[in-house]
Amino acid sequence: MRSSPGATVSVVALVLLLSSVTSGAPIIGLDSFLTHQSRVDPHASNDSFLSLPSSIKKPLSQPSSLSLSLSLSPLLSLSLPISLHLHLLGDFPSDTPNLLSAFISAATPSNFHVITPFDSLSHSLSLSHSLHLHITPSPSPSLNSLTSSLSKTLSSHLSSTPSSLRSPLLSIPHSSIDQTILSHFNSLNPNPNPNQVHLYLLNIPPDSDSPSPSKPYAYTYSPGDSSPAVTKCSGTFFTSSLRYFWIDLRAGPVDYGPAISGDGVIPRGEFHPLAALHGRPKSNKAFAADLASLVWSAYHVFLAPSLRIPVPFENSLLIHFIHVLSDADHRDLIGLDWKSIENSFRFESKTDGLFLGDQSLSFRKYEVKYSECSICSFAISRSINSYTSRFLFDNYTLIVSEYLDSKRLHQILSDSGDELRKLAGVPEEDFGRVVPVYVFDLDYTSLLLLDRYHQSVAFKDMVIAVRTKNTQTVSDYSCNGRHVFTQTRELERPIVGSILQSMWGVSPTHMNWSPQHNETLVDYTWSMGQTPFGPFSEMLSLSFVQKDAARRNVLLTSLNYSITSAIDVLQSVETHGGAKNLLKQKQYVEFVQRWNLFKYKLNKAVSALSHLDFEMALFYLRSSDHDLYAIHSIVYHASQEIEASLVCFKDPPFPWGSVSISASAFLALSYVYARRHKLFRNKRKQF
Ligand SMILES: *[C@@H]1O[C@H](CO)[C@@H](O)[C@H](O)[C@H]1NC(C)=O
Ligand SMILES: *[C@@H]1O[C@H](CO)[C@@H](O)[C@H](O)[C@H]1NC(C)=O
Ligand SMILES: *[C@@H]1O[C@H](CO)[C@@H](O)[C@H](O)[C@H]1NC(C)=O
Ligand SMILES: *[C@@H]1O[C@H](CO)[C@@H](O)[C@H](O)[C@H]1NC(C)=O
Repeated sequence: MRSSPGATVSVVALVLLLSSVTSGAPIIGLDSFLTHQSRVDPHASNDSFLSLPSSIKKPLSQPSSLSLSLSLSPLLSLSLPISLHLHLLGDFPSDTPNLLSAFISAATPSNFHVITPFDSLSHSLSLSHSLHLHITPSPSPSLNSLTSSLSKTLSSHLSSTPSSLRSPLLSIPHSSIDQTILSHFNSLNPNPNPNQVHLYLLNIPPDSDSPSPSKPYAYTYSPGDSSPAVTKCSGTFFTSSLRYFWIDLRAGPVDYGPAISGDGVIPRGEFHPLAALHGRPKSNKAFAADLASLVWSAYHVFLAPSLRIPVPFENSLLIHFIHVLSDADHRDLIGLDWKSIENSFRFESKTDGLFLGDQSLSFRKYEVKYSECSICSFAISRSINSYTSRFLFDNYTLIVSEYLDSKRLHQILSDSGDELRKLAGVPEEDFGRVVPVYVFDLDYTSLLLLDRYHQSVAFKDMVIAVRTKNTQTVSDYSCNGRHVFTQTRELERPIVGSILQSMWGVSPTHMNWSPQHNETLVDYTWSMGQTPFGPFSEMLSLSFVQKDAARRNVLLTSLNYSITSAIDVLQSVETHGGAKNLLKQKQYVEFVQRWNLFKYKLNKAVSALSHLDFEMALFYLRSSDHDLYAIHSIVYHASQEIEASLVCFKDPPFPWGSVSISASAFLALSYVYARRHKLFRNKRKQF
């Protein structure tokens, strides 16, 4: 059923079936009818077409109404405008807003991407996105008091914070600035989840009354100072739990990233992407260009991130913690506090969390002793690998270290998952989406990480985490010129990050699919502050970036399936010689009406997504499923009738390929629903 590019092109070229493509008047009453439906039937459980008044149905079958026709191109060129409200605070040249807008609008829209697609070779979704900036310039009456209070706060911190021997940068707690910005954000947005994201760009010179010359500073995200064993990384921006983030252009420059070389190295000093203001003075244009690339980069990571995996909608989400305990008697849950892991996924209000519609999430905990679980010791012993590295002590010394091969571990756990789950007492459950989280608590004294670097690894169907008695190690990352230490027994953050990937397809903050490079790029620029991902932050809580991505991912996945399915049905119609040929008049009219309604609803879903109204987008997508299903069904029955007539009259109007045609139509019929479930059946098999 996979559509080859050639076939797609020919369908598009067939532009077709209906002669004229005109942009007619909107259908009166359709919008308010559907809005009403969304209120009385928010889950779209009923097919709204059946209750559509004929005054609306009729114009739907007239091809000249709406700008809709039976062609694929409008489906393949759906575009999601994403708006970002930019507040400039402090010193910005007066032409900055115009220059910024010009730079940003020159960028071409790109598609949403998936880092690891399941069953297609393409990393691209059909939907494209584009950034729309709304800029409040500086100075402006609405921002002046915010600017001056931020300036006071900064000055008082700068004069009262003692210098540290460990860092050339003064440490300012991010909360001091964030609270001021938060109250401005709240005053602008009585609804805490506004329909666009706000970015505050700060370039605030210290208070002129301030006695001290300006000293370099950066923000810290957790209480306490750096010590020889604990590195506190500092940064220059913060992403809130609500829909805003801020960047202080004067702070820094800060350094963080892989210590030596490899993926994700960030240029240092004034070449750091967040150091637009540092270094030699620039022309207004060069400054605006730097800002534009900063905003563009943040947009790609925060507002339109890649999906880690596709995530179809399921009502019931279930996480099984399966703790494989070492043989020592005491259960040491320090660093493995299930409650705090759970709390990362729970939110006060329904509109603020990770869930769509009537989704529910539950957690179950199970334990199994390593000594009583032969499959566990088998899995571990089969997955241990070793590597040698060269260290310079007195001379060069070769050191052999061990690690676990996560792919092999995953394979064994997939093959023998049933046995392990039986041992742990996990009941057979066959509903909803289940992600098991296997935590191996091993009685080893040495360090044992997954694939050398990770405490936890996410797969599309499970999460695997490991710890030993070893408590800390020096990682390959550095920040503020010092190595970052990994507390190897603390698994909460790594597990939260992995669950976000496996259950919601949320990509780590430092990973993005790059169509230009045809690979996943690793870039740690934005992996600081409030993110559960990456080695530089200690925060366990989620920002708006992860929460929005979780819901957006489900909707994007569903939208892409709908589009794929619609392409298939049109191709099937084409193989039968076109709709007029295949369908009787009555079927044809309903087919056209359904098709137009389907496209109308997809457009409504995209527009709701653009306003970050995820519930409404879900309603339109679910509602459009009824139409898609009906379209498949009409085509299927029509092709069956042709089949039957072939048998009766023995006068085939079609070549002998018709048997396979009807087989493909049958597949198409069961496509919409079966496809979504197939995905899960495959995965359940692997558990
Ligand atoms: C769906 O339709 C049935 C029968 O037409 C009706 O009884 C039911 O109330 C409808 N459900 C909703 C949520 O509108
Ligand atoms: C290298 O140094 C280690 C201890 O630091 C010592 O045991 C070993 O013999 C030395 N090897 C050589 C070749 O000098
Ligand atoms: C991208 O890479 C994959 C494998 O690495 C390759 O099969 C594919 O052809 C590449 N695609 C493009 C567009 O270069
Ligand atoms: C999204 O849909 C397009 C069009 O049907 C398809 O070519 C592509 O493979 C789909 N992408 C994924 C990741 O499923």
